[in-house]
Amino acid sequence: MFNITNLASGYGQSQILHDLTLNVNKREIVAVMGRNGMGKTTFFKSLMGVLPQWGGQIEVDGRDVSKMETHERVANGIAYVPQGRMIFPSMTVLENIQTGLPSSAGGKVPDDLYALFPVLHEMRSRKGGNLSGGQQQQLAIARALATNPKVLLLDEPTEGIQPSIIKDIARTLKEIRNMRDLTIVVSEQVLSFTMEIADRFLVIEKGKFVVEETRENVDEAAISRYLSV
Ligand SMILES: Nc1ncnc2c1ncn2[C@@H]1O[C@H](COP(=O)(O)OP(=O)(O)OP(=O)(O)O)[C@@H](O)[C@H]1O
Ligand SMILES: [Mg+2]
Repeated sequence: MFNITNLASGYGQSQILHDLTLNVNKREIVAVMGRNGMGKTTFFKSLMGVLPQWGGQIEVDGRDVSKMETHERVANGIAYVPQGRMIFPSMTVLENIQTGLPSSAGGKVPDDLYALFPVLHEMRSRKGGNLSGGQQQQLAIARALATNPKVLLLDEPTEGIQPSIIKDIARTLKEIRNMRDLTIVVSEQVLSFTMEIADRFLVIEKGKFVVEETRENVDEAAISRYLSV
């Protein structure tokens, strides 16, 4: 469903990503684990076309999106929850979600989104900047889902969030996958979180995938070693 082949990218003269290849199935949740500075955010930015792609191919549901602008990739089914959430702090919760809606929705938030995140319905008139970190993360996920994506990319969704809310986020992501047949790629440094949700685990080191394990044969200790400094 989501096929990445030999993806290369970087900043200026310096190459950061080297030949990244990953094929993700429909309804699969893949975790990309890696320490600070290993290339997780660069990976997502080049998948979204926010960063120029140096080489390789990206396909969504049989469609090559490699040459497309960011908004065209979104229209073709990729959604992105950036690291640090990046919600609009001075806009209300409702307005934040509406920025993700296609114009055909006429500003109406689908009921199933509020069903997933009841707290956002409660707080829909509140300014985004006045929500807690965990609530802002839910808002960022709801905004991404408003585009009705086939593939959801999440960059370190648990960063700065307390353990009880991390559990909520894990539960919600599994629920969304089941409800919408969604494909999910999530980057993380927190293995306990990805152990709850991921079907497959990759480790990224210096812009290369160095480990790939399925849920059945995952070696937690080995992955932890890559994550500890
Ligand atoms: N705008 C930029 N210009 C030049 N180099 C950059 C830029 N952004 C990131 N880099 C470099 O690219 C490499 C990968 O960074 P990236 O942000 O992708 O890491 P990350 O895995 O997301 O880290 P973190 O867990 O801290 O978010 C690092 O060496 C970083 O210094
Ligand atoms: Mg990052």
